Amino acid sequence: MSAADQLLAQVRAQGAIPRHVAIIMDGNGRWARERMLPRPVGHRNGMKSVREVVEAAIEAGVEVLSLFAFSQENWQRPATEVSALMSLLEEYIQKEANELDQQGVRVIFLGDLDRLPARQRASVDGIMAQTTHNTKLVLNLFISYGARAELVRAARLIAEEVAAGRMSPAQVDEAAVTDRLFTAGCPDPDLLIRTSGEKRISNFLLWQLAYTELHISPVLWPDFGRAELYQAILDFQSRERRFGRVSA
Ligand code: IPE
Ligand code: IPE
Ligand code: MG
Repeated sequence: MSAADQLLAQVRAQGAIPRHVAIIMDGNGRWARERMLPRPVGHRNGMKSVREVVEAAIEAGVEVLSLFAFSQENWQRPATEVSALMSLLEEYIQKEANELDQQGVRVIFLGDLDRLPARQRASVDGIMAQTTHNTKLVLNLFISYGARAELVRAARLIAEEVAAGRMSPAQVDEAAVTDRLFTAGCPDPDLLIRTSGEKRISNFLLWQLAYTELHISPVLWPDFGRAELYQAILDFQSRERRFGRVSA
C-alpha cells in the first residue's frame, strides 16, 4: 500500500468527506525558479497535479472540486506568461476532455470568459457542453475570475430586476445574491486549500468562503498530489465547525 493509499484509508475511517473542496493552486513560478527553469515550465508541471487531484477527489468521494487557475488580476502578468497560460489551457482541454468525460466529470468554467481569446473560448464552451450530463464529480475551473467582480455582477443583475419592477428591494436577501453568483446552485466550499504557503485569499470566492475551513499547505502546486489532498482532508476532519454557535 502506498503512503497515499494509507492516507485514503485513514480519511475513510475518519468518516465525513468534505462535499466541496476548493484549491488556490499556487507556487508554479517558484517551483520553476528553484530549478532555474522558465515559469511556464512550472505551469505545465502544475497540469499533472490537476489530473492527480481530480482522480484523488473522485476516489475520496468529493462531490465538487473548485480550482482557481487564473485570476482577473493575472491578466496583468507579462504578455508572454499570459499567452503561455492560454496555450496550456487549450492543451489541457484537448488532452483531457475525453478522459474527464469518461471519468464522469462535469467540467464548468467560471469567470469573465468573454476576455478569453476566441480559440480558448470555443474549447471551454466545447468541454462544458461535452460533459454537461456527468454526475460523478463537478470540476469548477475558475479562469479570469475575481470575487469582487462576481459580487458586482450579482449586484448589477439584482439592480436590473428591481429597476424593471420584477423584484422589490425587500426581496434582496442572501439567497438573492447567492443565486446570482457564478456558483449558483453549488454548495459552499467545506475546505479551502492554498498551496505554496501563502496565507491569502487573493480575491477568490469571498462570499462563498464565509464558513469554510482553511488549510495552508507549504507544498508548491506542481508537487501537490493525492497524498497532499488526503492530508488536507484529514486536517479538515480534525476541525470542529461551529458556524457561530457553541459546541454540542
Ligand atoms: C499559480 O502559480 C498559477 C497562477 C497564478 C496562474 P504562480 O504563477 O502564482 O506561482 P508563484 O506564486 O509565482 O510561485
Ligand atoms: C492566486 O495566485 C491566483 C491563482 C492561483 C490562480 P496569485 O499568485 O495570483 O496570488 P498573489 O499575487 O500571490 O496574491
Ligand atoms: Mg502565485
